[in-house]
Amino acid sequence: MKLSISQKLITLSVLSVAAAAFSATSFAAVDAAAAQALAKKSDCLKCHAVDKTKKGPSYQKIAAKWKGKADAEAKLIEAITKAPKVKLEDGTQEDHKVIASKDMAEIKNVVGWILAQ
Ligand code: HEC
Repeated sequence: MKLSISQKLITLSVLSVAAAAFSATSFAAVDAAAAQALAKKSDCLKCHAVDKTKKGPSYQKIAAKWKGKADAEAKLIEAITKAPKVKLEDGTQEDHKVIASKDMAEIKNVVGWILAQ
C-alpha cells in the first residue's frame, strides 16, 4: 500500500506522541497487559482494583503513597514476595498474598505497573 503525504504525516505524529508518552514515564518498559494477567492469575484483583478500594487499597492509592520514593520498587517487591502481615479494610489481619511468579522481571513488571497507576 502506498501512503499519501498526509497519511505519512499522521503516522509520524502518532509515532512521536507515542515516543513522548513512552519517555515521560520512569517505568517505560512496563507491559501493562502482562502485569494485569499475572495479577489476575495471582488473585490480586480479589482485593485490589486500579481505582477503588476493595479489601485492600486501590493501586492508584498505593502508587500515590509511594510516588517519588526511591525505595518504592524494593518495598513493593517485598510486599508481594515475602507475605508480610497486612490489615484488611474490614480490620482482620492475614498474610499478604504472594505473587504467582518467581521471575524477577515479571515481578518488577507488576510493581512498575502498580506504581504507574
Ligand atoms: C486478601 C486480600 C489481598 C490480596 C489477595 C492481595 N492483597 Fe495486596 N494488599 C492487601 C491489603 C489489605 C494491603 C494493605 C496493607 C497495608 O497497607 O497495611 C495490601 C497492600 C498491597 C501493596 C502495597 C504495599 C505497601 O507497602 O504499600 C501492594 C503493592 C499489593 N498489595 C499488591 C498486591 C499484589 C500484586 C497481589 C497479588 C499477588 C495482592 N496485593 C494480593 C490485600 C490483599
